[in-house]
Amino acid sequence: MKLAFLDKYRDVLRTGLAQALHGDDATRQMLRYHVGLETAKGKPANALGKLLRPSLVLFVADELGTDLGSAMPAAISLELIHNFSLIHDDIEDEDVQRRGRATVWSLIGVAKAINAGDLMSTLAIMEGTKASPETVECLLDAMRDLVDGQSMDLDFESRWVTLSEYRAMIQLKTGALFRCAFELAGIVAAVPPEIIKRLASFGEELGMAFQVRDDMLGVWGDKGQLGRPAGSDLRRRKKAYPLIATHERASDIDRRFLERAMKTKPVTDADIEKIMSLMDRLGIRSDGEVRMRAHLQEAVKQLPYIPFSEDGLQTLGDLFEGLTAFMKPTEA
Ligand code: IPE
Ligand code: IPE
Ligand code: MG
Ligand code: MG
Repeated sequence: MKLAFLDKYRDVLRTGLAQALHGDDATRQMLRYHVGLETAKGKPANALGKLLRPSLVLFVADELGTDLGSAMPAAISLELIHNFSLIHDDIEDEDVQRRGRATVWSLIGVAKAINAGDLMSTLAIMEGTKASPETVECLLDAMRDLVDGQSMDLDFESRWVTLSEYRAMIQLKTGALFRCAFELAGIVAAVPPEIIKRLASFGEELGMAFQVRDDMLGVWGDKGQLGRPAGSDLRRRKKAYPLIATHERASDIDRRFLERAMKTKPVTDADIEKIMSLMDRLGIRSDGEVRMRAHLQEAVKQLPYIPFSEDGLQTLGDLFEGLTAFMKPTEA
């Protein structure tokens, strides 16, 4: 996803992350590795993630008339929380790759990786305290929701769930940090509470659209988009959107097959192929696209109440376009 507004903030965010994670010890070095500032051997690297959440904080704060400097601690704090969650998420999901690189636990073991994640979350909150108590409250609310969402996600591994349970889960695990990105910008810019509520809803819907997209990439994305081998979500039996939707839409006989196939670990290649063709037959890919667009449309309903400039609206339009582009048949 190549977007001009992400390029705009990349350098200042890189500097902010390097400052927050400075230190000679092995754990901080691993944190810099994880965010992509360094290689595993401590050499400079150019492997940052998309920096979507902190870029949104800075972009929205700018739109609301605040200078970059006063929004920076909140933006960096949010990105550190995101990265704390990813270090632990990769342990929980047993993923050995993220952003095309080895995951922290796969390099230093689970015990040290848990501790590295703990340090990342602590540094995140410390960064947040450079702003206002309201900022910290917003960050902690989001962090609690994210962890509650991860609990639901893990619980889903041992049972079949409905799409409405899925919605509740992604609202927490991903919606929360996106909601927080928009709220933080509103808090820093000291806009009225009614506008902060609108910003929060916009962010939350955007986050849910983003998670549905990520789940679709887990099945239909290529390795470059996903940062790990395609089909890995299915192989690991993750109850991501495609699998839940397939289970909900399948006939009794197909559902029995799916439940049986998902009992073997890892799922066999032959079964993966059958599940993929079942998904094709049921139109799960286009269902997912509809679902993702529905979240984006919900977000759009908030726009009349938020004072975005023409340029700002264009930037959001480009972001929406970038999020939906991977599903176009030409890019399939
Ligand atoms: C990955 O988020 C986790 C999800 C919520 C799907 P991103 O795709 O924003 O991760 P990076 O930081 O850009 O790698
Ligand atoms: C999103 O969960 C990560 C968090 C919200 C912590 P996933 O497990 O679905 O995300 P990826 O695909 O590993 O990034
Ligand atoms: Mg994961
Ligand atoms: Mg996960």
